[in-house]
Amino acid sequence: MADELTFPSDIYALQSQLRLHGLDPSAHLVQVKSRDGKFLEEDDIIAEMNEDIAMIVLPTVLYRSGQILDMERLTKEAHARGIMVGFDACHSVGVIPHLFDNWEVDFAFWCNYKHLNGGPGCVAGLYVNRKHFARKPGLAGWFGSRKDKQFDMEHTFTQANSAGAFQIGTPHILSMAPLLGSLEMFAEAGIEHIRKKSLRLTQYLMDLIQSELMGYGFEIGSPRHEAKRGGHIILEHPEAARICKALKQEAIIPDYREPDMIRLAPVALYTSFQEVYETVKVLKKIMDGRLYENYENKRGIIA
Ligand SMILES: Cc1ncc(COP(=O)(O)O)c(C=O)c1O
Repeated sequence: MADELTFPSDIYALQSQLRLHGLDPSAHLVQVKSRDGKFLEEDDIIAEMNEDIAMIVLPTVLYRSGQILDMERLTKEAHARGIMVGFDACHSVGVIPHLFDNWEVDFAFWCNYKHLNGGPGCVAGLYVNRKHFARKPGLAGWFGSRKDKQFDMEHTFTQANSAGAFQIGTPHILSMAPLLGSLEMFAEAGIEHIRKKSLRLTQYLMDLIQSELMGYGFEIGSPRHEAKRGGHIILEHPEAARICKALKQEAIIPDYREPDMIRLAPVALYTSFQEVYETVKVLKKIMDGRLYENYENKRGIIA
């Protein structure tokens, strides 16, 4: 089971796994519906947890609206029905604290190239709950070996007693180097402090949008409530694709997401409140001068 708002890669992975097991994704993958196309209701997800469900994969933070799902509650409800649950943490790692051990989440995975600053294509991360350490990897490689055994080069796989058992090959060292530096800074600053500043940044951004931009047809498509809000804000506007192009021209880099969303991610460790203020000022200038009309309202190949 997944949801209908999740990132396509997760759906492709689940569909292909089902096919590998001789199952038909159109019949065997349940996708929980969103009531409004933006948010998910935990109650709706729980209502779909029945005896037909073997495993659930959900986002920690939705990549468009930035909604945080209640991972603890969902995990508890899934486990009460004997269902394994994992989370895609791409949009929450480096933004919010994760208590996967305490919540007894079965597994989680994430890319390190957004808030953790690893750079596009940087090696990914995997969390595996201790209770699954003895499970055999579906596709094993020598890097999943116990480290003291790896260079014995035996044809019998002695797996690591950690999430490392699920590693396959040698990680890309050059792409791990920026992560090493970045993680040291995250550890030094502490995720609780980062979360506090991130919430203040997104609140300030929403307050400014509310006071300065509402007359231009913008809608805020992210949760207002702190406990539900991740590290980014979605601004909806019918001209979103070309407003993003105009922002880039002004050296402000948003993400455009279909069909009408501008994703703005002020990052706690390096975005200042002044920059948030400047961003809204630039958006106002783009709207007042209709500068977006210099561009086609269509996304480029890369959004
Ligand atoms: C929520 C989510 N899951 C998965 C991915 C894909 O990550 P990767 O390119 O490392 O496979 C992304 C990338 O943007 C994402 O936002």
